[in-house]
Amino acid sequence: MAEGRIAVIGTGYVGLTSGTCLAHLGHEVVCGDVDPDKVERMSRGEVPIFEDGLQELMTEGIESGRLTFVHGAEKAAEGAKYIFLCLPTPDGGDGRADLRIVHQVVAEIGPLLDPGAVLVTKSTVPVGTAKQITATLARDDVAVVSNPEFLQEGTAVKNFMNPDRVVVGSDDRAAAEAVAKLYDGLTTSSGKPVTMLITSAESSELIKYASNAFLAMKLSFINSIAGLAEVVGADVHEIAGGMGLDDRIGPKFLRAGPGWGGSCFPKDTKALAAIALDYSVPFPLLDATTIANEQAQERVTDRIREAAGGDLAGVPIALWGLTFKAGTDDLRDSPALEVALRLDTERAQLRGYDPTVKADLPPKNGYPAVPVAADPYAAAEGARVVVLLTEWPEFADIDIARVAQVAPGAVIVDARNLLDAQQVLDAGLRLVPLGRKG
Ligand SMILES: NC(=O)c1ccc[n+]([C@@H]2O[C@H](COP(=O)([O-])OP(=O)(O)OC[C@H]3O[C@@H](n4cnc5c(N)ncnc54)[C@H](O)[C@@H]3O)[C@@H](O)[C@H]2O)c1
Repeated sequence: MAEGRIAVIGTGYVGLTSGTCLAHLGHEVVCGDVDPDKVERMSRGEVPIFEDGLQELMTEGIESGRLTFVHGAEKAAEGAKYIFLCLPTPDGGDGRADLRIVHQVVAEIGPLLDPGAVLVTKSTVPVGTAKQITATLARDDVAVVSNPEFLQEGTAVKNFMNPDRVVVGSDDRAAAEAVAKLYDGLTTSSGKPVTMLITSAESSELIKYASNAFLAMKLSFINSIAGLAEVVGADVHEIAGGMGLDDRIGPKFLRAGPGWGGSCFPKDTKALAAIALDYSVPFPLLDATTIANEQAQERVTDRIREAAGGDLAGVPIALWGLTFKAGTDDLRDSPALEVALRLDTERAQLRGYDPTVKADLPPKNGYPAVPVAADPYAAAEGARVVVLLTEWPEFADIDIARVAQVAPGAVIVDARNLLDAQQVLDAGLRLVPLGRKG
């Protein structure tokens, strides 16, 4: 086990998962957060987010005494050997990442750090941030290391414990190796030893953005293919299957849907475009990736409008799924809400259902209010169009006959291609899938 305590600053999806998993690996971890209520709940063993497998490991960590929670960054950082910054780096409004919280926390904790401490950026930060932090710290006795996180919400614990790779970047090779060593004992999902990739801080910072933007581009590509497939009479599933069998392409991230979203892909794709612009490097693929995503959301909205007979005003519409993907309670930049916004603008009457959303959604971040029903059937009651927006497995097992009872004559727009066309037809409803014939 590494000598010295670990501090994790910011206990959101990344910080809480990282802190909990590092404690599971045997490290002593103190997590600090600015939100006192959250700290209080976590100290009682309550997981404030929906993330498979996190509760068990968090309970284990607290009971073993290796995992504790404190209010504030300073309390966590004081006396720690490794300080992981897992802080928000949102879109600053012009596409560039807003680093104010990161810099503010560095300024707060910098003077308190022990000599020999290693400050680790796990937040997604633009290229050059490690250098900037080093300059702000102005301490020769503290190393700065970039260690981006690649976990996916919904499978965060699995991704942390079985990563495809761990990337650590720094000018200080010894500090980078010490951070890589904290992950000793991890294996990939196929049980192989994890590749520890040690790079410069600049490469490490860019690897994260390049990976996310590439995945977003892959999704935008298949969504554009879905649009084309609809027009030429092809089937996007057959196309994705045929592409995915090529080893150079691979089958993942080739499922057509209502566009990508979440707290990372939109902001990271824009932030990489902003970095390229700042360095005067033309990178048109990134803008095209975002534009194609908006087109995917438009396309789903078009299908819904057509299903409603051409005019959405006053049309009752059920939204199945509100989160940006299955397995999470995260609504940030959800494509489901992007579609809801377009429908609301055309004055449709919306009612949603999502397994992790229990209360009505108030208007927030430009998205409209959405009343939330207790189950998918209650959401569908009286609807003229039912739209499947998030790929929750329970929608694949839905009782279509029951839907037909509560929403006779409704059209189901399946933006995730989860439903069986024949079953829907047998129930007397019409199915509109994406990128293929109904
Ligand atoms: N969510 C993901 O799937 C994911 C995956 C990989 C990387 N990332 C990156 O990791 C970073 C964190 O993302 P997240 O989704 O975990 O964010 P989050 O919003 O879920 O969590 C951030 C946490 O930081 C806390 N915080 C804010 N200001 C603070 C301060 N001054 N001191 C202490 N705590 C403070 C907040 O209260 C919150 O608990 C971002 O840069 C993100 O891009 C996210």
